[in-house]
Amino acid sequence: MTAAKEKKIGKRKLVGQVGELAHGASKKFIIRSGDRDLEALLVNYEGTFFAYRNRCPHVGITLDWVDNQFFSVDGRYLMCANHGAVFEPKTGDCIWGPCAGLALQSVSLEIEGEKIFAECSDAGD
Ligand code: FES
Repeated sequence: MTAAKEKKIGKRKLVGQVGELAHGASKKFIIRSGDRDLEALLVNYEGTFFAYRNRCPHVGITLDWVDNQFFSVDGRYLMCANHGAVFEPKTGDCIWGPCAGLALQSVSLEIEGEKIFAECSDAGD
């Protein structure tokens, strides 16, 4: 194994298992970014996993008012409980609400077999 590959493995975190979340389900996790721990959310949307930092681009606070509740009732969109911003689960783009045109900060994922890993970032923002 090369040194670069070893470094990459050391900068990711196991955040879930493929069979753990059904469509429309979510799970919060903590990821290291620079010298800070940030809260993020892992979601299953139509069988594909996506992850975003749990920070609304409107005011910069967490999206969920009820713990771990991110999806709209119909399971189609991610929502911010504070002022109702609506986000596309596949891109994090805000399509309606006070931050329309902005987007959730994505967290890169790698899936190996049943394991879902999130990439840690060097950026501390
Ligand atoms: S804080 Fe999310 S819409 Fe205002």
